[in-house]
Amino acid sequence: MKILVTGGAGYIGSHTVVELAQAGYEPIIIDNFSNSKESVLGGLRAILGRDVPCHRIDCGDAEALRGVLKQEDNVQGVIHFAAFKAVGESVAEPLKYFQNNVGSLLTLLEVLPEFGIESLVFSSSCTVYGVPDALPVTEATPTKPASSPYGRTKQMCEDIVHDLAAAPGNKLYTILLRYFNPIGAHESAKIGELPLGTPNNLVPFITQTAVGIREKLTIFGNDYDTVDGTNVRDYIHVVDLAQAHIAAVQRLLDRKATDTVETFNVGTGHGNSVLEVVQTFEQASGQKLNYVIGPRRPGDVPAIYADATKAAEVLGFKTSTSLFDSLASSWKWQLTLGK
Ligand code: UD1
Repeated sequence: MKILVTGGAGYIGSHTVVELAQAGYEPIIIDNFSNSKESVLGGLRAILGRDVPCHRIDCGDAEALRGVLKQEDNVQGVIHFAAFKAVGESVAEPLKYFQNNVGSLLTLLEVLPEFGIESLVFSSSCTVYGVPDALPVTEATPTKPASSPYGRTKQMCEDIVHDLAAAPGNKLYTILLRYFNPIGAHESAKIGELPLGTPNNLVPFITQTAVGIREKLTIFGNDYDTVDGTNVRDYIHVVDLAQAHIAAVQRLLDRKATDTVETFNVGTGHGNSVLEVVQTFEQASGQKLNYVIGPRRPGDVPAIYADATKAAEVLGFKTSTSLFDSLASSWKWQLTLGK
């Protein structure tokens, strides 16, 4: 069965393409390579032993999308990753985020029914919870005002999907996956996270510091009301996260979804502080990390982690990779990339 993967050359997208192919699906990538590299396709080929079809188009280009869906014929479902994800950049350039993240979803929603496609998995984020009142967050935890335009695009996209589902004649079934913090790389170290420029996210910053590209990591604040004063997040291995997409797509194609829109947290269910991540990285890599404590980063949520019960019960999804192993895989990937 053909599954269109928008943003399939990106970090989570590429790992999902591997899991799809290994589960017997035929993934088809579309990507505009605005935040990914063509070399990812070589990594996919090395892992899978064959080429994955890839169309270099922008997901927001309706005509180009129609062209791909005509050419590929009989696509059964779509996993929509294509989006910008840098929180700070979204504050500086909000229109770019609304146009790309919201625009590409709107284009998809317009085009999919023309091809009889009724199954969509959407990349949402735990950022929709804002600063939650209680932890862990369940899917029923109320969303709060987003702390960035990036976060707002995820909330808006969720709302758009709900409104469309309620419209007369709608045939689309959507699963919204709210990701926590993806880290790590494929065990082959043929694909992994490829930040362009200075990384915004914690783990690539750590590995680049350890390998000597960056001088030091700055930990953004140690005066939060958490276990050791640093922020707490739910770090999930990217291959575990990828597997949640397979479970979601399978559920949609098997027509097992009980509602036109279903929402799942995708996390481990455990929170770790930034300092715990640093210490675990030091153990997993055998490297001493040069770090300093700096001021808080505006917009950071003090602590968030998932209640992962619903995904376990309904999707049968459970993570299997420890923080240690996840960070070891990030380090192996960084060593492959080199300096
Ligand atoms: C945020 C969003 C997430 C989104 C992601 C996209 C929340 C809760 N999460 O993740 O939904 O998909 O952005 O990029 O809004 N840190 C440092 N030093 C650094 C980098 C990070 O101390 O140099 C700390 C941060 O303060 C944070 C943790 O590491 O506590 C993780 O940061 P990061 O990897 O950027 O992810 P989030 O901000 O949690």
